[in-house]
Amino acid sequence: MASTSSTIKLSLLLLLLLLLFLTITSQSESNHQFCEAGIGYGESQCGIYSSSSTKLLIKGGTVVNAHLQELADVYVEDGIIVAVKPNIIVGDDVTVLDASGKFVMPGGIDPHTHLAMDFMASQTVDDFFSGQAAALAGGTTMHIDFAIPVNGNLMAGFQAYQNKAKVSCMDYGFHMAITKWDDLVSRDMEIMVKEKGINSFKFFMAYKGAVMVNDDLILEGLKRCKSLGALAMVHAENGDAVVEGQKKMIELGITGPEGHALSRPPVLEGEATARAIRLASFVNTPLYVVHVMSIDALEEIAKARNSGQKVIGEPVVSGLVLDDSELWNPDFITAAKYVMSPPIRASGHAKALQAALSTGLLQLVGTDHCVFNSTQKSLGIDDFRKIPNGVNGIEERMHLVWDTMVESGQISATDYVRLTSTECARIFNIYPRKGAILAGSDADIIILNPNSSFEISSSSHHSRIDTNIYEGWRGKGKVEVTIAGGRVVWENDELKVVPGSGKYIEMPPFNYLFNGIEKADARYLSSLRAPVKRSNS
Ligand code: URP
Ligand code: ZN
Ligand code: ZN
Repeated sequence: MASTSSTIKLSLLLLLLLLLFLTITSQSESNHQFCEAGIGYGESQCGIYSSSSTKLLIKGGTVVNAHLQELADVYVEDGIIVAVKPNIIVGDDVTVLDASGKFVMPGGIDPHTHLAMDFMASQTVDDFFSGQAAALAGGTTMHIDFAIPVNGNLMAGFQAYQNKAKVSCMDYGFHMAITKWDDLVSRDMEIMVKEKGINSFKFFMAYKGAVMVNDDLILEGLKRCKSLGALAMVHAENGDAVVEGQKKMIELGITGPEGHALSRPPVLEGEATARAIRLASFVNTPLYVVHVMSIDALEEIAKARNSGQKVIGEPVVSGLVLDDSELWNPDFITAAKYVMSPPIRASGHAKALQAALSTGLLQLVGTDHCVFNSTQKSLGIDDFRKIPNGVNGIEERMHLVWDTMVESGQISATDYVRLTSTECARIFNIYPRKGAILAGSDADIIILNPNSSFEISSSSHHSRIDTNIYEGWRGKGKVEVTIAGGRVVWENDELKVVPGSGKYIEMPPFNYLFNGIEKADARYLSSLRAPVKRSNS
């Protein structure tokens, strides 16, 4: 009898402790303003999903596509947009969202992220769950991350990234980096394209001794990309010259974060951009230049595009809205949080990049979200070369592009949709499944209130990073609702996300940039005169 009662007491005590633990955990989560659900739809720990209904009607908003803006309702069933037209009437089983006075737009697609990436003796602190949760809170509903090969092996890299992405709560795709060259890499590129849904490969022209490749490899890679219909991407900085610049700064005693910017000036970005463009022209294959940060690189892209070459330029939000002044901040951590490559440039570059976006010389905006916390950044306290490179942006991009570009009158709402979503979907060949509010498209939708405001702070953002390079930024135009795959995941400043609910989006080869490539090759060949017959040959 006595032992039964002590067992009951012990069980009660354990139950009490468990309850206490659950209360503390749920409080710390709600402090962070998101509510992680159990695996599987509708198993939220913090309430019934508003999205448990598979039918949604977004009523009375201005629907904005890249090609057209119109007053219309949007009806969604089972994750797919079913109808876009005025005055849709629905039954009681449909969740209705009022969007009057607001813009209804395709969710953002971020073409450039690094989640859970091992880099510079650290791993980025946002993984595929926390980074995507942050993205959704900011109106981005898909991203394309860079899968990094393992010791040069593409298949191993792909598998590693498949594992990392198992916790995904939104749709994602992969680019693949090429870090060495041999027959296996060449063969695996084909497998990636034909069987794994990858249609782009990135070549790093910087980070010597780590992932940097030389011109020889770039040429092989460009030829292989062309034959597979895959898009070649470059990180364009002259990595050899960067090492020289770094040595110079250290010799001058400049060891702090400002040395980072000084060691890799815009001329090195311009040189590598020009070189990559010329090699792509020689091979006659399209080229995508990632994180265009300077006027020098921009001018090379503009020149190539004006001459008819198929070159895409992707500025990232940090380069678009910031300047390098904080790198000279006397506080190391404040300065180090701005360290990324190519560096954020002196004032003047950002304005030029904005103008290039508004006139069509640059085509889409990414983030290069690649976040390290203060302790990781401190690895370089005595030597800027050891500061892990990377900044945040996945959560802030949609707001900052609206505030900087639309609010200022530089671009229209339709341009905004093109630059933040549609063009990315077109380039990576998933349009109109993504990047559009059309019947048949995936229901990845945001409702943006142009009259509402936002403020950015590390104390309220959803990324795991402990700093924010946009700290204190206040602006107009707030993403009030995010719908991903037909589920309302962000509403009333609350996230409802489900690890494992994000889908891998396969991206087919031969995007629109490849149209005409064969004809141009044929024209070139037919323009060659017959080999000269010489008597001595
Ligand atoms: O500083 C950066 N950009 N870190 C991420 C890696 C890269 O170069 O894209
Ligand atoms: Zn890069
Ligand atoms: Zn990057």
